[in-house]
Formats: sequence, C-alpha cells, structure tokens
Amino acid sequence: MKAWKTIVFSLCLLPLGYLGLGIYREDLGPNPVEYLTHETGAWALRLLLVTLAITPLRRFTGWRRPILLRRMLGLFAFFYACLHLLIWLWLDRELVWSNMLEDILKRPYITVGFTAFMILLALAVTSNSFSMQRLGRRWKQLHRWVYGAAALGILHFIWLVKADLLQPMIYLAVFLLLMAARLPGLPERKPAPFRRKVAG
Ligand code: HEM
Repeated sequence: MKAWKTIVFSLCLLPLGYLGLGIYREDLGPNPVEYLTHETGAWALRLLLVTLAITPLRRFTGWRRPILLRRMLGLFAFFYACLHLLIWLWLDRELVWSNMLEDILKRPYITVGFTAFMILLALAVTSNSFSMQRLGRRWKQLHRWVYGAAALGILHFIWLVKADLLQPMIYLAVFLLLMAARLPGLPERKPAPFRRKVAG
C-alpha cells in the first residue's frame, strides 16, 4: 500500500509541478492569473470527484484498498481549493479584504464557491483519527457534506461560465453518475478482506 500511496501522492502533485513550471518559464498564456485560477479550481473539482469515485469502485469491484487513498485524495482536493482561493485573494483581489467580502456577498458564483470552500475546510480539519474518535457517529454525518461541496463546486462553475456549458455539464454528469452509483439495490461485489503480507 505504501507504494500505491507514493504513486498517488506523486500524481496529485503533477498539476502543481506543471503550473510551477509554467510560472518559471513565464508560459501561462495571455492572462496568467486567470489561467492559474481556472487550473487550480478545475483540479480541486476533479480530485473531489475522484475522491467520490472510491466508494462506487469498492462497491462494484470488491476492491477495498483504494479506500486507504480516499483521505489523501480529499486533502489534495482541499489543497488545490486553497491555492485557488489564495490566487484569487492575492493576485486578483490584491489582498484587499473589503473587495473580497463584497465579492463574496454580491457575486452569487463567488458566494457558492466560498460555501464549498468552507465545507472542504471543515472536512479537512476533521479528517484525522482524533476527530474521527471524538465525533463518533457525527463524523460520518459531517463527512457526507462532501457531496454538498462537490455539488456547490459544480454550481460555481456553471454560474461563472457565460457561453460554453459543455465542461461544467461533463462534471455534473460525472457527479450525478457517482451519486446514482450509491443508490441501494444495485448489484455489488462483496469486498475481499485485506490480505496482510506475512514476513519470511
Ligand atoms: C472562496 C472560494 C472560491 C472563490 C473566491 C473562487 C473564485 C473563482 C474565480 C474568480 C474563478 C474564475 C472565474 C472567471 O473565469 O471569471 C473560478 C473558477 C473556478 N472555480 Fe472557483 N472559487 C472558489 C472556490 C472553489 C471551489 C471550492 C471549487 C471546487 C470545489 C472551485 C472550482 C472552480 C472551477 C472548476 C472553476 C472553473 C475552472 C475552469 O474554467 O476550467 N472554486 N473560481
């Protein structure tokens, strides 16, 4: 599993590396701030959907190991959402808090994005084993809000796109499919028990 974790960790860092390289080469197109905002937002959403795909994957294949990658994937989605917010705050709003507050209150797509971010923040800070133990059954209820965060992330995207709705509609279709895959009564495979490697 350690090897899988290292591979997935490295894969999740690839978009960051690619963006870093673009910054270094000054090769981010005519509007670098817009490009960085779009890419980090898109990666936050993509990784959120990959995180949501883990449960259906286990359900239909019986393969349990990817569950152990779910927290890492979710935290990476949050990481890209943090970058997204930071770029907007710093490069777009130039850290003027009154501008930022005005945008959050007056521009609906920002309000929705901000709400999604706050949900992701709550999930990230309670993603550790300590919070899991302290919150008990409430932990699961709280972490169901991940569906809300993904839905709001997609709504944020739909709202900000003025003309070509194809991309946000693809995200919406994937999200709805992942939600449908959770419906009761679908054929599923019993998960195989974890096999431990025996030394010697
Ligand atoms: C306070 C929180 C947030 C703010 C202020 C914010 C702001 C923005 C802005 C300014 C844009 C570009 C809009 C334009 O082109 O005119 C954008 C795009 C986007 N944001 Fe956010 N966002 C926030 C949270 C989120 C979150 C949590 C997600 C994902 C879960 C997300 C996903 C996206 C996506 C997918 C795009 C479009 C990317 C593309 O064009 O390919 N945003 N956001």
